[in-house]
Amino acid sequence: MTASSKKLYIKTFGCQMNVYDSGRMNDALAADGFEPTDAPENADLIILNTCHIREKAAEKVYSEIGRLKVLREKRRADGKETMIGVAGCVAQAEGEEIVRRAPAVDLVIGPQSYHRLPALLRKAQSGAVVETEFPQEDKFDHLPAATPKRLRQAGPTAFLTIQEGCDKFCTFCVVPYTRGAEVSRPVAALIAEAGDLAAAGVREVTLLGQNVNAYHGADTDGATVGLAGLIERLAAITGLDRIRYTTSHPRDMDDALIAAHRDIPALMPYLHLPVQSGSDRILKAMNRRHTRDSYLRLIEKIRAARPDIALSGDFIVGFPGETDADFADTLRIVEEAGYAQAFSFKYSPRPGTPAATMDEQVPEDVKKERLAALQAAINDGQQAFNTAMVGRDVDILIEKPGRKPGQMVGRSPYLQSVIVDLPTESRGDIVTVTITNAGPNSLTGMVGGRDRDEPAAQPLEAAF
Ligand code: 5AD
Ligand code: SF4
Repeated sequence: MTASSKKLYIKTFGCQMNVYDSGRMNDALAADGFEPTDAPENADLIILNTCHIREKAAEKVYSEIGRLKVLREKRRADGKETMIGVAGCVAQAEGEEIVRRAPAVDLVIGPQSYHRLPALLRKAQSGAVVETEFPQEDKFDHLPAATPKRLRQAGPTAFLTIQEGCDKFCTFCVVPYTRGAEVSRPVAALIAEAGDLAAAGVREVTLLGQNVNAYHGADTDGATVGLAGLIERLAAITGLDRIRYTTSHPRDMDDALIAAHRDIPALMPYLHLPVQSGSDRILKAMNRRHTRDSYLRLIEKIRAARPDIALSGDFIVGFPGETDADFADTLRIVEEAGYAQAFSFKYSPRPGTPAATMDEQVPEDVKKERLAALQAAINDGQQAFNTAMVGRDVDILIEKPGRKPGQMVGRSPYLQSVIVDLPTESRGDIVTVTITNAGPNSLTGMVGGRDRDEPAAQPLEAAF
């Protein structure tokens, strides 16, 4: 095997930050001669970039490793060796346990150590290596910049991690344990990385962090810059037309950030602001540090600054002790807040988190029922929001080919998927499209569809 022929396959589970991290692992290993492949059977190194947020994540990883073991045996019969690595939050949470249960694994590596990947892989040639410490040095100072090839392949949209970890300790959540304490990357590094992305043709960047609006990065003069300040600087980069950020905590939604939604045109009118529950009793047990009322008042303030903002959120049903009355409060907040989109999950006990050992765990069938009811309510809201778009002209960033030939799919400023008949070459263009049809999950539009003399549709905010 020559250095230049090594192939790397990364399978990514979970959130957008894992997608970003997989890209950075690619970069780190490119320096070592690894080239990415989409075919695991051709890979000399397979990395599972895992997620631990919900459900039986660890079990899924073990069965995935079982499949990889078979693949490795097949390759070995052909005289080829395969190394198997487990990265991400299951790696961080399970550590040594992974190599104990699955001796086929050569390397277990937590998210804070990705810059050490090449060195750890070399070490793993002579026996399994487990690296789940939170190192002193910052991985971002040591990770190589994206390779020109990966930048070229980035397409019109990209993720950029600006902050990692969380100090909030919601009682259901594993993130503070797997990703550690809140750390913000310095402003200059982010401007440089965003500049490289824009130069490679990226027009929309989504700023990522587990608690992204708690961002407080150091400026070159030592001053601290908040998320609003960072967005203002990124918006000045030529070619970067759209900026988004996710995911936020209501407690960190400060006035400067709300004003940024009013004042910075590149900042898209979409906000993912999880509430998790509509019941004050449950919010308290979750240690959310906000109430239903403070959340609703916050939304009002944000809508006063940016009336058309599309609100998105996360909900958990069946948190320990949740009664029918608590759940009714959750259904009510869905109505009152008016979500353009929302994600809902059955509570899943995470080992090591306070809620996992709370009394009054909710039976699975109750969780299931509540989830279905909540999803129906969310779906209605989504449909109403999307229907209000019909007849409007909206700027769509064209991202990728659609399912049918001649179709492309793009995103509206409100993060809706819009299907439109356009040639493949339109990828990366921002095109004004008239919305002709709306389903709960996507819209259809056409270029130059509306006669300019027709009246424009009602303003979006009138839908609520
Ligand atoms: N069970 C169910 N959902 C969870 N989430 C986080 N932890 C859990 C858990 N233990 C959800 C929250 C969070 C989203 C990323 O995942 O809604 O906002
Ligand atoms: Fe988890 Fe978000 Fe709560 Fe942090 S703020 S503990 S990441 S749910």
